[in-house]
Amino acid sequence: MSGAAGAGGAAHPPGTPPVIGWRGDAVVALDQTRLPHEVTTLTLATVDELVDAIRGLAVRGAPVLGAAGALGTALAVHRAEQHGWTASRLAGQLDRIREARPTAADLAAGVTAMEPVVHRGARAVEAAARSYTERIAAAGRRIAERGADYLAGLCRSGTLSLHTHCNTGALAGIEWGTALGVVRALHTRGRVRQVIVDETRPLLQGSRLTCWELEQWGVDYRLVCDGAAPYLLARGGVDAVVVGADRVAANGDFANKIGTFGLALAARHAGVPFVVAAPESTLDPGVPDGAAIPVEQRSEREVTHVADVSVAPAGARAINPAFDVTPAELVSALVTERRLIVAPSGPAAVVPGRADPHPV
Ligand code: MRU
Repeated sequence: MSGAAGAGGAAHPPGTPPVIGWRGDAVVALDQTRLPHEVTTLTLATVDELVDAIRGLAVRGAPVLGAAGALGTALAVHRAEQHGWTASRLAGQLDRIREARPTAADLAAGVTAMEPVVHRGARAVEAAARSYTERIAAAGRRIAERGADYLAGLCRSGTLSLHTHCNTGALAGIEWGTALGVVRALHTRGRVRQVIVDETRPLLQGSRLTCWELEQWGVDYRLVCDGAAPYLLARGGVDAVVVGADRVAANGDFANKIGTFGLALAARHAGVPFVVAAPESTLDPGVPDGAAIPVEQRSEREVTHVADVSVAPAGARAINPAFDVTPAELVSALVTERRLIVAPSGPAAVVPGRADPHPV
């Protein structure tokens, strides 16, 4: 994890501190709730602080949650050694980290990956967690290049207009991320015309985080409200949709930020390729299909308020699933750091610029 400049550089946006890492004997993480207006680093020195940061989305995005699970295990083992916790107290604290957000497979996977090392003590877990974090970051680069190869291969010349949802870039994946890493890799090849970014209600990861990242990379983008996506896709100006995933079931159904399912339906209706980019750690063969994926329900206040300002009558009730589940049949291709799986119904080619550019 290091800062580097330029869209082709190695890391997250230039001049910003690491998205997540380890300093002293604590986890350090960029506070993603303060972006885009403030770049602030949190020092998370206790399991309580880490769990609060994860639940409050200061630390978020599937691969970053994997790192949080691994580094959080190191944190718990350090505190266990300092305070003389029993083995069962330590196990309880690890479960709290694992369960802080139930949908993202990577969070629990990060804790589980550290289990074989825990008996070797805090410094050993810390070293293992740091190297796990580096592997997550490196996987993003491979996802980005493989996804870019696939899309570039579908469209051998010209530039692509891409549509994305939520935030799946450096902020979610430490360096390159997943879906937004694909966009960034295509951009470095000069193959991106424009990116349409869903604002991603209720917590606006699209407008706050994805637009911020695209600004740093110098990518031309337009922010749209979530409800505009089907119209824009039907209008014909988008060449492919690229999204991330929080958990992919054995049959290929996957959970991602609420709004992804609607986007997939609209893409199918419009005949636009719908590509999912995720690390292998997000694939959960233990979950047979989408119906078995646990979906996190969040506070009603996130819907009734925007940036802490009420936007509904006092007492209005809301429903706030953080994720939805998209059936595999709507996915054209799944890209991981190891493989590309193209659906039998996947597109053979896309022709860029099929319609007039969006009015701007
Ligand atoms: O609630 P969030 O912001 O953690 O949700 C994030 C997403 O849904 C991302 O699309 C997903 O984690 C993939 S990140 C590379």
